Amino acid sequence: MARMTKGTKVLSATTVAAMLTIAVCWLGATAVTTAADAPANPEGLKLFEAKIRPILADNCVGCHGPDKQKGKLRLDTREGLIKGGMDEDKVVKVIEPGDPDKSMIIEAVNYKNEDIQMPPPKKKENRKLSDEQIKDLTEWVKLGAPYGEKPVESTKKPDEK
Ligand code: HEC
Repeated sequence: MARMTKGTKVLSATTVAAMLTIAVCWLGATAVTTAADAPANPEGLKLFEAKIRPILADNCVGCHGPDKQKGKLRLDTREGLIKGGMDEDKVVKVIEPGDPDKSMIIEAVNYKNEDIQMPPPKKKENRKLSDEQIKDLTEWVKLGAPYGEKPVESTKKPDEK
Protein backbone atom coordinates (compact mmCIF):
# COMPACT_ATOMS: atom_id res chain seq x y z
CA MET A 1 0.00 0.00 0.00
CA ALA A 2 2.77 2.41 0.98
CA ARG A 3 4.57 1.63 -2.29
CA MET A 4 1.48 2.38 -4.33
CA THR A 5 1.14 5.80 -2.71
CA LYS A 6 4.77 6.61 -3.38
CA GLY A 7 4.39 5.54 -6.99
CA THR A 8 1.40 7.78 -7.43
CA LYS A 9 3.26 10.74 -5.93
CA VAL A 10 6.26 10.26 -8.21
CA LEU A 11 4.00 10.08 -11.22
CA SER A 12 2.15 13.23 -10.33
CA ALA A 13 5.38 15.15 -9.69
CA THR A 14 6.55 14.13 -13.16
CA THR A 15 3.26 15.22 -14.64
CA VAL A 16 3.49 18.59 -12.92
CA ALA A 17 7.06 19.04 -14.15
CA ALA A 18 5.98 18.20 -17.69
CA MET A 19 3.10 20.63 -17.50
CA LEU A 20 5.39 23.36 -16.20
CA THR A 21 7.85 22.71 -19.02
CA ILE A 22 5.08 23.00 -21.58
CA ALA A 23 3.80 26.19 -19.97
CA VAL A 24 7.26 27.77 -19.87
CA CYS A 25 7.95 26.83 -23.50
CA TRP A 26 4.63 28.23 -24.58
CA LEU A 27 5.21 31.50 -22.74
CA GLY A 28 8.72 31.71 -24.16
CA ALA A 29 7.47 31.15 -27.70
CA THR A 30 4.77 33.78 -27.25
CA ALA A 31 7.31 36.31 -26.00
CA VAL A 32 9.61 35.64 -28.97
CA THR A 33 6.76 35.99 -31.48
CA THR A 34 5.71 39.29 -29.95
CA ALA A 35 9.24 40.71 -30.03
CA ALA A 36 9.80 39.75 -33.68
CA ASP A 37 6.42 40.98 -34.90
CA ALA A 38 5.93 44.56 -35.91
CA PRO A 39 4.33 46.24 -32.93
CA ALA A 40 0.68 47.05 -33.55
CA ASN A 41 1.51 50.64 -34.18
CA PRO A 42 -0.75 52.59 -36.54
CA GLU A 43 1.39 55.74 -36.44
CA GLY A 44 4.56 53.83 -37.29
CA LEU A 45 2.84 51.91 -40.08
CA LYS A 46 1.46 55.09 -41.59
CA LEU A 47 4.93 56.65 -41.57
CA PHE A 48 6.33 53.46 -43.11
CA GLU A 49 3.94 53.45 -46.06
CA ALA A 50 4.10 57.21 -46.65
CA LYS A 51 7.83 57.85 -46.24
CA ILE A 52 9.97 54.86 -45.33
CA ARG A 53 8.94 52.38 -48.02
CA PRO A 54 9.95 54.84 -50.79
CA ILE A 55 13.26 55.70 -49.06
CA LEU A 56 14.21 52.02 -48.78
CA ALA A 57 12.95 51.25 -52.32
CA ASP A 58 14.93 54.10 -53.92
CA ASN A 59 18.11 53.92 -51.85
CA CYS A 60 18.67 50.61 -50.10
CA VAL A 61 16.86 47.52 -51.39
CA GLY A 62 18.79 47.42 -54.69
CA CYS A 63 21.84 46.36 -52.64
CA HIS A 64 20.02 44.88 -49.64
CA GLY A 65 17.16 42.84 -51.07
CA PRO A 66 16.30 39.75 -53.07
CA ASP A 67 18.87 40.40 -55.85
CA LYS A 68 21.90 41.48 -53.83
CA GLN A 69 22.61 41.15 -50.12
CA LYS A 70 25.58 43.41 -49.49
CA GLY A 71 26.99 42.76 -46.04
CA LYS A 72 24.54 39.78 -46.02
CA LEU A 73 21.86 42.29 -45.08
CA ARG A 74 18.30 42.52 -46.44
CA LEU A 75 16.15 45.55 -45.80
CA ASP A 76 13.10 44.57 -47.88
CA THR A 77 11.39 42.93 -44.87
CA ARG A 78 11.41 43.52 -41.13
CA GLU A 79 12.71 39.98 -40.65
CA GLY A 80 15.82 40.91 -42.63
CA LEU A 81 16.28 44.15 -40.72
CA ILE A 82 16.01 42.40 -37.35
CA LYS A 83 18.25 39.53 -38.45
CA GLY A 84 20.96 42.04 -39.41
CA GLY A 85 24.03 41.53 -41.56
CA MET A 86 27.17 39.42 -41.36
CA ASP A 87 30.81 40.44 -41.19
CA GLU A 88 32.70 37.22 -42.00
CA ASP A 89 31.04 34.87 -39.49
CA LYS A 90 29.88 37.52 -37.02
CA VAL A 91 26.29 38.78 -36.94
CA VAL A 92 26.08 42.55 -37.37
CA LYS A 93 23.11 43.91 -35.51
CA VAL A 94 21.81 46.93 -37.41
CA ILE A 95 18.81 48.07 -35.39
CA GLU A 96 17.55 48.43 -31.84
CA PRO A 97 13.82 49.05 -32.36
CA GLY A 98 12.76 52.10 -30.33
CA ASP A 99 16.32 53.38 -29.92
CA PRO A 100 17.78 55.21 -32.94
CA ASP A 101 20.95 56.13 -30.99
CA LYS A 102 21.81 52.44 -30.75
CA SER A 103 20.82 51.61 -34.34
CA MET A 104 23.57 51.17 -36.93
CA ILE A 105 21.23 51.98 -39.80
CA ILE A 106 20.71 55.46 -38.37
CA GLU A 107 24.44 55.93 -37.77
CA ALA A 108 25.06 54.81 -41.38
CA VAL A 109 22.63 57.23 -43.05
CA ASN A 110 23.99 60.13 -40.98
CA TYR A 111 27.50 59.56 -42.44
CA LYS A 112 28.89 60.02 -38.92
CA ASN A 113 31.23 57.07 -39.02
CA GLU A 114 33.62 56.85 -41.98
CA ASP A 115 33.53 53.06 -41.93
CA ILE A 116 29.83 52.78 -42.56
CA GLN A 117 28.07 55.32 -44.77
CA MET A 118 24.83 54.32 -46.49
CA PRO A 119 23.95 54.62 -49.29
CA PRO A 120 27.69 54.36 -50.03
CA PRO A 121 29.19 57.58 -51.47
CA LYS A 122 29.91 57.54 -55.21
CA LYS A 123 32.67 59.55 -56.83
CA LYS A 124 30.51 61.96 -58.80
CA GLU A 125 27.31 61.79 -56.87
CA ASN A 126 26.47 62.77 -53.33
CA ARG A 127 24.11 60.00 -52.35
CA LYS A 128 23.60 60.97 -48.72
CA LEU A 129 19.91 61.07 -47.86
CA SER A 130 18.29 64.45 -47.21
CA ASP A 131 17.90 65.74 -43.64
CA GLU A 132 14.16 65.21 -44.01
CA GLN A 133 14.62 61.54 -45.00
CA ILE A 134 17.04 60.96 -42.13
CA LYS A 135 14.57 62.55 -39.74
CA ASP A 136 11.79 60.26 -40.99
CA LEU A 137 13.96 57.15 -40.66
CA THR A 138 14.95 58.17 -37.13
CA GLU A 139 11.32 58.69 -36.13
CA TRP A 140 10.36 55.33 -37.66
CA VAL A 141 13.05 53.51 -35.64
CA LYS A 142 11.79 55.32 -32.54
CA LEU A 143 8.32 53.94 -33.30
CA GLY A 144 9.68 50.38 -33.40
CA ALA A 145 10.43 50.17 -37.16
CA PRO A 146 7.24 48.43 -38.31
CA TYR A 147 6.92 47.25 -41.94
CA GLY A 148 3.73 46.94 -43.99
CA GLU A 149 2.63 43.55 -45.26
CA LYS A 150 4.25 43.66 -48.68
CA PRO A 151 8.06 43.46 -48.91
CA VAL A 152 9.79 46.61 -50.18
CA GLU A 153 10.53 46.37 -53.90
CA SER A 154 13.55 48.20 -55.29
CA THR A 155 12.82 50.97 -57.78
CA LYS A 156 16.30 50.58 -59.30
CA LYS A 157 17.05 48.57 -62.41
CA PRO A 158 19.54 45.71 -61.89
CA ASP A 159 22.41 47.76 -63.44
CA GLU A 160 21.97 50.97 -61.41
CA LYS A 161 22.07 49.96 -57.80
C1 HEC B 1 25.47 50.40 -53.81
C2 HEC B 1 25.09 49.38 -52.87
C3 HEC B 1 24.52 49.77 -51.52
C4 HEC B 1 23.42 50.57 -51.25
C5 HEC B 1 22.57 51.34 -52.26
C6 HEC B 1 23.22 50.53 -49.83
N1 HEC B 1 24.16 49.73 -49.22
FE1 HEC B 1 24.29 49.23 -47.26
N2 HEC B 1 25.94 48.10 -47.61
C7 HEC B 1 26.55 47.96 -48.85
C8 HEC B 1 27.78 47.19 -48.69
C9 HEC B 1 28.77 46.82 -49.78
C10 HEC B 1 27.85 46.84 -47.31
C11 HEC B 1 28.92 45.99 -46.61
C12 HEC B 1 29.75 46.81 -45.68
C13 HEC B 1 30.68 47.71 -46.44
O1 HEC B 1 31.43 47.23 -47.28
O2 HEC B 1 30.64 48.93 -46.19
C14 HEC B 1 26.69 47.44 -46.68
C15 HEC B 1 26.42 47.34 -45.32
C16 HEC B 1 25.35 47.95 -44.68
C17 HEC B 1 25.10 47.89 -43.27
C18 HEC B 1 25.94 47.15 -42.24
C19 HEC B 1 25.61 45.69 -42.24
C20 HEC B 1 26.77 44.79 -42.49
O3 HEC B 1 26.56 43.57 -42.45
O4 HEC B 1 27.88 45.26 -42.76
C21 HEC B 1 23.98 48.64 -43.02
C22 HEC B 1 23.30 48.88 -41.68
C23 HEC B 1 23.52 49.15 -44.30
N3 HEC B 1 24.37 48.72 -45.28
C24 HEC B 1 22.42 49.94 -44.45
C25 HEC B 1 22.03 50.51 -45.66
C26 HEC B 1 20.89 51.41 -45.79
C27 HEC B 1 19.99 51.84 -44.65
C28 HEC B 1 20.84 51.77 -47.11
C29 HEC B 1 19.90 52.76 -47.73
C30 HEC B 1 19.80 54.06 -47.10
C31 HEC B 1 21.94 51.09 -47.80
N4 HEC B 1 22.63 50.34 -46.88
C32 HEC B 1 22.21 51.19 -49.15
C33 HEC B 1 26.10 48.44 -50.06
C34 HEC B 1 24.99 49.26 -50.23
